Amino acid sequence: MTFSDAEKAAIVSMCGKVAGQADVIGAEALERLFLSFPQTKTYFSHFNLKHGSPDLLKHGGKVVNALGNAAGHLDDLSGALSVLSDLHAFQLRVDPGNFRLLSHSIQVTLAAHFTSEFTPVAQSAWDKFLAAVSEILVSKYR
Ligand code: HEM
Repeated sequence: MTFSDAEKAAIVSMCGKVAGQADVIGAEALERLFLSFPQTKTYFSHFNLKHGSPDLLKHGGKVVNALGNAAGHLDDLSGALSVLSDLHAFQLRVDPGNFRLLSHSIQVTLAAHFTSEFTPVAQSAWDKFLAAVSEILVSKYR
């Protein structure tokens, strides 16, 4: 998948905004995921899923930082996400349908926090970016 210069700019600049609060934004995206799609909690039965828990903040930070890293490699997403792809496919075996749900929750979280930056261009770029990341993370299941 290729990204236009405008899409790249929208993805990278939003990552810059999120970077200083990766754990809070990531935790909120996870919380939205678990509240809106409760079946996704089954993968995290070993976590404390209460609002603001250290588990949520730590994992949220990891997910957001992984996206930040991927955003720095938009021309080689497969390479940048190779280790995570192995983890999700071979160890975690997360049902592929869940990636769309998390992508949605991430976008709603970005929209809620960065209202003026979340323009139609930014939304469409993020939708494409998260779909590309998800596609790579599930690519080794087949
Ligand atoms: C672990 C990223 C989607 C379930 C991880 C880790 C990262 C990550 C960075 C930590 C890896 C490590 O500690 O080395 C992502 C990204 C996703 C995504 C960028 C898509 C945008 C999902 C989805 C689910 C999921 C949709 C399930 C609903 C898990 C679980 C772990 C994990 C259960 C292990 C948690 C633990 O025990 O610490 N993911 N993930 N991931 N992910 Fe994902």
